[in-house]
Amino acid sequence: MQRSLPVCPEADLPPGKTVKFVYKVDGIAYEGFAANFKGNLVAYENTCQHIPIPLDYDDNRFFTPDGNNFICATHGAIYHPGNGHCLAGPCAGARLKKMHATVVAGEVRVCLPEE
Ligand code: FES
Repeated sequence: MQRSLPVCPEADLPPGKTVKFVYKVDGIAYEGFAANFKGNLVAYENTCQHIPIPLDYDDNRFFTPDGNNFICATHGAIYHPGNGHCLAGPCAGARLKKMHATVVAGEVRVCLPEE
């Protein structure tokens, strides 16, 4: 059965916002983030595909100033928010690990990876 995690009330994730969360797979803790990209909810593991460190500086900032992409704070890799594809930077062509995000009864939930 697919595991899902409640992340936040839907009202806390308007367009252009992100919310981080922690989840476990096989007892190991990972950080993820959910984002509202122009009205579409998405969620990813918070790990850059260049070096396995978080995309943000623990400040919950993922979007570029224009809101069109995610950016890694360390070396500036640019990712498409819709599919996690790295468009430019040292890991161009790689993809963020995506999770399904949805709204259930007014709450954003993320489907977690299988254990
Ligand atoms: S660690 Fe993200 S671009 Fe280098």
